[in-house]
Amino acid sequence: MSDQNPLAGSIFPPSPEFVAQANVSGMAAYQALYDEAAARPEQFWGHLAETELAWQQKFDHVFEWAPPFSKWFVGGQLNASYNCLDRHLDGPRAHKAAIIWEGEPGDTRTITYTELHRLVCRFANSIKSLGYQTGDRAIIYMPMVPEAVVAMLACARLGIIHSVVFGGFSAEALKARIQDLGATLVITADGGWRRAKEVKLKPAVDEALLECPEVKHTIVLRRTGSEPEMMEGRDLWWHTLDETSHDDCPAVPVDSEHPLFVLYTSGTTGKPKGILHTTAGYLLQTTMSMKWVFDLKENDVYWCSADIGWVTGHSYITYGPLSAGATNVMYEGTPDTPAFDRWWQLIAKYKVTLFYTSPTAIRALIRQGDQWPDAHDLSSLRLLGSVGEPINPAAWEWYHRVIGKGRCPIVDTWWQTETGAILIAPMPGAVPLKPGSGTLPMPGILAEVVDLDGKPVPPDAEGYLIIRRPWPSMIRNIWGDPDRYAQTYWGRMEGVYFTGDAARRDADGYFWVLGRVDDVMNVSGHRLSTMEVESALVRHPAVAEAAVVAKPHEITGQAVCCFVTLKKGDYNHDVLGKELRQWVAHEIGAFARPEEIRFSEALPKTRSGKIMRRLLREIVTSNTVAGDVTTLEDMGVLTRLAAQQDEP
Ligand code: WT7
Repeated sequence: MSDQNPLAGSIFPPSPEFVAQANVSGMAAYQALYDEAAARPEQFWGHLAETELAWQQKFDHVFEWAPPFSKWFVGGQLNASYNCLDRHLDGPRAHKAAIIWEGEPGDTRTITYTELHRLVCRFANSIKSLGYQTGDRAIIYMPMVPEAVVAMLACARLGIIHSVVFGGFSAEALKARIQDLGATLVITADGGWRRAKEVKLKPAVDEALLECPEVKHTIVLRRTGSEPEMMEGRDLWWHTLDETSHDDCPAVPVDSEHPLFVLYTSGTTGKPKGILHTTAGYLLQTTMSMKWVFDLKENDVYWCSADIGWVTGHSYITYGPLSAGATNVMYEGTPDTPAFDRWWQLIAKYKVTLFYTSPTAIRALIRQGDQWPDAHDLSSLRLLGSVGEPINPAAWEWYHRVIGKGRCPIVDTWWQTETGAILIAPMPGAVPLKPGSGTLPMPGILAEVVDLDGKPVPPDAEGYLIIRRPWPSMIRNIWGDPDRYAQTYWGRMEGVYFTGDAARRDADGYFWVLGRVDDVMNVSGHRLSTMEVESALVRHPAVAEAAVVAKPHEITGQAVCCFVTLKKGDYNHDVLGKELRQWVAHEIGAFARPEEIRFSEALPKTRSGKIMRRLLREIVTSNTVAGDVTTLEDMGVLTRLAAQQDEP
């Protein structure tokens, strides 16, 4: 990204009108909340848990910390599905829209809280009738349809641990997740609509299940009407099961620390990590951020454009908004179908007031020109959100001016799959914005920027972003791998959560997240590990060795660039390059398809044989190599790699 920064140094205080109506008004109010949570965490979180969640049994105490493990709201019992549904049915929310959904072809549904409750109960009864129960694991592999949310909440209702796998993942990736989780149920659909074409899902499930003997059933939603193969005895239609299910399904009270879901994300090795979130703390903090960060009010129409397969879809489509009683817009397809104004049209049509999306999407839409948003009435908007990566000044400025008409605060929300909920973001009626900064931490979040010894660095100096104290919605474990959990997050600095991000903190205490410090890439706001792509590449019969680095990209932030050495043989590089890109898409998923494959006779290595990724990064970024190369084994390799730059 080459970005002149026209906004350098600008500060955008909240407008008096926004402050007047905000859930948290003015800096003093924010500061009081922050100070209270820091000084008396037990009272602060205990009080919120009691007042903001519905309990079947009250907790005995607020937390137990034995880093790296911690428990919140110990001894309590509750149910996430009950909190997202049943508790809204006694009052005026009963007939409020919970989900306003639009399919890509233009079909629409509005589902009230009462109706959503009914759908969830019926589907939970379908699952129950097959013998599944509390503690079992289910995979959800679905398009962006309301039933994806129904499936999550039905699992939660029964205490079944769900793991949503993004529909863009391949059969191979799906299989690895099913196996790692020991799932016995897969909930899927025939397919979904994307760019006017059907993306089939069931065939990938069939392929994955060839090597997953523990899966007893799949439940298949009919969405597109393409007739998938159904295996007798194993595969069941959602609508057939529904015929005999009834409307009443009591929510099973589970322990505060009962696993709610596992979501796989990329780490620094080739194997994805199953991030485990539990019930009470996760639900409380996602609920609170709806009020603190999105300033949610009863009559807001809220739209988060994420896919349900990423953590943003979990926390800010399903659990946060529904627990907070919001009206949630959900859209199946892509922003460019049938034309580049689909999102703006949806905002106008449903009078969306709160809109949450990613810098990648914003950059892609900027490119299409202002005529697309300008053709629609966006005056319903009152707040905009951004997530997934740092938002660059040009994207911020456009989002603010063209979409928000200069009226809407932009909440730049920093968080991670592991943090469960937003940890650093402005409370929009309190904290003045600085474009590009996530501003200040949420109450209870003791964030700091430190050096490798854990000592705070001076203002404006670069360091590691860490969190000093456990928080309610934090990751509890890596599924099946507590050692990796302890090592990755708590092993770098004693008793401190290591985020893996570099950051600066300015003299006002504002946080500026700079990006990952590990071998994790961020492509379109989706996390991808260099190792994962490398292991996929070396599984190809022609590949001897591979090194993968991220390369700056104008739209997607980063793009995947692969250096590959080949086994002996005669290859056409053009053909093989295409084949390898397709291979990675097949092994991981289309979103991981490398932007570039560069063939090389060798890779630059240290004397101990470690590939020097830093040098490769320099090559793809600037095409020059500065840095220290004294440990480099073969300087010639490097010059040849740099010289290749202009080849396709
Ligand atoms: C990583 C987490 C959080 C849901 C989506 C991604 C980067 C995320 C921001 C932001 C700067 C950000 C960080 C973080 N990131 N939001 N507002 N500003 N960087 O979740 O896949 O777990 O990735 O995304 O590098 O560590 P994820």
